[in-house]
Amino acid sequence: MKIEILPSLLAADYGRFADEIRRAEDSGADALHIDIMDPTFVPNMSFGPDIVALARRVAPGFYRNVHLMMNRPDLYLEAFARAGAQTLQIHIESDCDLHTELARIRAMGLKAAIVLNPETPVERLAPYLGEIDEALVMTVHPGYGGQKFITDCLPKLSWLRARAPGLDIMIDGGANAETIPQAFAAGANQFVAGSHLFGKADMKSEVARLRRQLAG
Ligand code: DX5
Ligand code: ZN
Repeated sequence: MKIEILPSLLAADYGRFADEIRRAEDSGADALHIDIMDPTFVPNMSFGPDIVALARRVAPGFYRNVHLMMNRPDLYLEAFARAGAQTLQIHIESDCDLHTELARIRAMGLKAAIVLNPETPVERLAPYLGEIDEALVMTVHPGYGGQKFITDCLPKLSWLRARAPGLDIMIDGGANAETIPQAFAAGANQFVAGSHLFGKADMKSEVARLRRQLAG
């Protein structure tokens, strides 16, 4: 599986969005992770489609991975597709028919992913494994950056890898130089990191260091 590192824009300096998006692209990271929050689904708010469009404008070649922390992602799929999302990630805990919405995402030519909160059993993903391009296992409770990695989520990665050897398996939350190798060993191949990467003055060397670490 291809190893991918995705800086999360949530941890960027909000006074310099365009520069921060270019800094993430120049770091050699694989894609930008953009967190969209609906305050009825998580206890916070963040961005809307305009930020996705900004990312497309300032870094057109930098892949846009869009995480929809929303109760009704189905109402906004087209808006995020029009803005330039390339993967749309919807939560299994959201209030929509996942089979229908995953098919709609793919029909728009985008990649479709399901996200699982820490308290949600991984077995709930079983009926959807043939309908997704990626599974995102939350390793913190969604809503905020800078939280501590929940180690109890690691077995979910092994469960998924055993059943879906070719699936992209991503973690999001509390990722750093210590927890990324743990998640990799358990079966993940894609790593979202917000505060860890944006907090580094030299994001490029940190991305290179993480890749070296995973290459063993
Ligand atoms: C949390 C978001 C994450 C967040 C991760 O709700 O989904 O993408 O940016 O931040 P860190 O890497 O700082 O835990
Ligand atoms: Zn996220």
